[in-house]
Amino acid sequence: MSIANKQKNPPAKVEEVRTDPRYKLVDRTLKRFHYQQDALIEVLHTAQEAFGFLDDDLMIYIARALKLPQSWVYGVATFYHFFSLEPQGEHTCVVCMGTACYVKRAAEIIATVQDEFGIAPGETTADGKLSLATARCLGSCGLAPVMVIDNQVLGKETPDTAITQLREVIATPAATAATSAATTVEPQEGPQP
Ligand code: FES
Repeated sequence: MSIANKQKNPPAKVEEVRTDPRYKLVDRTLKRFHYQQDALIEVLHTAQEAFGFLDDDLMIYIARALKLPQSWVYGVATFYHFFSLEPQGEHTCVVCMGTACYVKRAAEIIATVQDEFGIAPGETTADGKLSLATARCLGSCGLAPVMVIDNQVLGKETPDTAITQLREVIATPAATAATSAATTVEPQEGPQP
């Protein structure tokens, strides 16, 4: 059901909202920002961290709490690449396609990942192990081409190193994968337009 239809049919999940502790995390952020409408992105961040993705019921809940139109919340959630409206795989790979990364063969990295795992950007493997996404600029242009695996920023990648690192991460249990990436670097300031 689309969010437009749900505007007429509120979610029948009141009990779930009362008992699901993840909603308490969202409530805490709402309170911290005094339910101000300009805290929407912060609240969506918390919601995505708590739930893994933003489903319709969650966006409706946030819209009501902030007294914003549901279409506005949905528009913001779909505008920014770092919000996901679908369940993500156990591991995520985001390849930057900003200008600096693009000229340094980022498209070849994506094509190689696509061939290796059989998924296009925006898709998750059938076994739920890996989700692939793209971004415009991850703010580390000096390290181009850049990719992010499970929140670890990796710079100066090649198609071969990307595949090697992804295979390694996928073979590692999720809890320890975040510490296994070999060439982790800190993101730099100053995203390239
Ligand atoms: S263009 Fe890729 S990090 Fe800026």
